[in-house]
Amino acid sequence: MTEKITIARLHEMKKTGEKIVSLTAYDASFARILDTAGIDITLVGDSLGMVLHGEDDTLAVSMEDMTYHSRIVSRACQRSLVVVDMPHRSYETGHQACTNALRLVEAGGADVVKLEGGVEQAETVASLTGRGIPVCGHVGLQPQSIKEYGGYKVQGRSKEQAERILAGARALQAAGACMVVLECIPAALAQRLSNEITIPTIGIGAGVNCDGQVLVVYDVLGLSARSPHMAKNFLAETGSIQEAVQQYIRAVKTREFPGPEHSFE
Ligand code: KIV
Repeated sequence: MTEKITIARLHEMKKTGEKIVSLTAYDASFARILDTAGIDITLVGDSLGMVLHGEDDTLAVSMEDMTYHSRIVSRACQRSLVVVDMPHRSYETGHQACTNALRLVEAGGADVVKLEGGVEQAETVASLTGRGIPVCGHVGLQPQSIKEYGGYKVQGRSKEQAERILAGARALQAAGACMVVLECIPAALAQRLSNEITIPTIGIGAGVNCDGQVLVVYDVLGLSARSPHMAKNFLAETGSIQEAVQQYIRAVKTREFPGPEHSFE
């Protein structure tokens, strides 16, 4: 069996400059394809609320949903690290966050849990990591805060927003987060942040200079109703799902993806 990807391995990849590749999966069949192709991180994203349930946003996704999808994905992953989103309103207090994160780990088989927010989540992240639960942060565009933004908009273009994102990532690292997702922020800001912090940054719409990249698998396969600016349909250039995933991995590892056309200024 191929060796399981560990958090230590991801940190080593950041140091050596090897790009970390991630895709979302919500079921065992896709998870197996991703895992076999060599994806480093399989993300059970709460994006499942949109791409599986047909909702306009991720807000209605429940702990039951995430535990179920985490369980069926993690069962199929032999090599990749399984990161699982904590759904909206599942981590409002330290106690609630610990109870729910433990459920994702114990019943869902998650290796790492992911939650959205920066400075305001530092205490929660510290209480999870203090109990031995690895946490991935998520700053920039936080889909669970979509109602506050009034739509899916690039974050961090103003000096004030950029400072908030930088402070958020620093606070997450100090609280013990093992990596952080940077979503829809200017490429220059993502580069600055990736150079500054020591934990890996995984970008989506954040330019090529993040330590790794993640996309929603349905976007890579052209299955989504709308193709977001930061995504590319790799199936269009290949003959099978397996080949499309391999092409995506190759393009991320060689820094061909994302190009400027998939990034923001
Ligand atoms: O839910 C999800 O799929 C995510 C990625 C877009 C990073 O959080």
